[in-house]
Amino acid sequence: MNKPVILLLFSAFLFACGGGKEGGNENESKNSSAELIKKGELLVNASDCKTCHHQVNKIIGPSHLDVAKKYEFTQANVKMLADRIIKGSSGVWGDIPMTAHPDLPMTDAENMARYVLSLDGEAEKQ
Ligand code: HEC
Repeated sequence: MNKPVILLLFSAFLFACGGGKEGGNENESKNSSAELIKKGELLVNASDCKTCHHQVNKIIGPSHLDVAKKYEFTQANVKMLADRIIKGSSGVWGDIPMTAHPDLPMTDAENMARYVLSLDGEAEKQ
């Protein structure tokens, strides 16, 4: 083999091994907040919430969009709403009470609250 061919093969080899390292440096907290919101959406869809809550229309309960507009997307409000989802709630939006969800783990309820609070486009405050 002559030299140019060997050089050509060598550089082709380097090229093939060089690529493939990209990305992976996105904003961590923004990323995980989006993931938790997504989890919350799946949980809301899988639970009984939709019997009483439509995303944008009031049915038995307030629309989840109205809930998002009423409250700031803070850690404190995530916890407060998660607590009401688990224990039930009444008197905030009207006379009809929300049933309790005592079997719901707190982290699931918090992610549901995150999803609801994200619906008006507000980002989670850390
Ligand atoms: C039986 C009907 C019903 C079901 C099922 C239900 N809700 Fe509600 N929800 C309501 C009503 C009615 C209210 C308003 C209660 C009030 O005025 O305090 C409410 C209020 C809320 C609020 C606002 C609480 C506040 O303090 O402003 C959130 C958030 C919420 N529901 C989320 C959920 C989620 C998530 C689920 C599913 C796990 C769910 N709800 C299931 C009827 C329901």
